[in-house]
Amino acid sequence: TAHAALFDLDGVIVDTAVHHFAAWRETAAELGFALADQDEELLKGVGRMDALRIVLGIGGVEVDDATAERLAAEKNARYVEAIASITPADMLPGALDCLEALRAQGVRTALGSASRNAPMILDGLGIRDLFDAVIDGSVVTEAKPHPRVFLAGAEALGVAPADCVVFEDAIAGVRAAKAGGMLAVGIGDPAVLTEADAVIPGLHAVDALASHGITFAGAP
Ligand code: BG6
Ligand code: MG
Repeated sequence: TAHAALFDLDGVIVDTAVHHFAAWRETAAELGFALADQDEELLKGVGRMDALRIVLGIGGVEVDDATAERLAAEKNARYVEAIASITPADMLPGALDCLEALRAQGVRTALGSASRNAPMILDGLGIRDLFDAVIDGSVVTEAKPHPRVFLAGAEALGVAPADCVVFEDAIAGVRAAKAGGMLAVGIGDPAVLTEADAVIPGLHAVDALASHGITFAGAP
């Protein structure tokens, strides 16, 4: 029985993955190549500069450090523009109910996101108060699949990693959870998130986890 739930943000609580990918597609287009649909999985969960390196690798493009910084900043400006008008209506189905239900049971909650834009998104969604701790890309430098972001979340909650469940839509994030000794619940396609302990289509289906032996209760 888990006492804490750690949530990735993009693709788990809010449907921002599409905006990240659209912004990277423009970067690629500017550099003269196209990203394929399946490239989106590679970019999920990884930090901004790591994502840029993946994009450049796909195109076989090499740039100097100053150009890399500029490309990342321009991608972020496009992304920030896309999410600037985010509202509670942009939350993924079941996300709000899931957070509120867990907290009502006394389960501790943390955000574990690679995004430096996470605080702005939480404010736009009006859900900052639903997390006992927020660990984001400005707090932690080791990117998923390194477990640091989730270990820092568990520590902030005062819950042992083995008593934590992580909700993740990215392969890198599922790996980070497992590397941290936590249960990993994949959000999405079981054929993609093969290393997760269980996979559900979204937080609206969180009750199905009981049939996988994953249950929650307030810390004793
Ligand atoms: C993750 C996204 O949550 O944040 C990645 O899944 C993104 O796609 C990463 O690259 C970093 O986000 P940001 O907002 O700091 O560029
Ligand atoms: Mg994600």
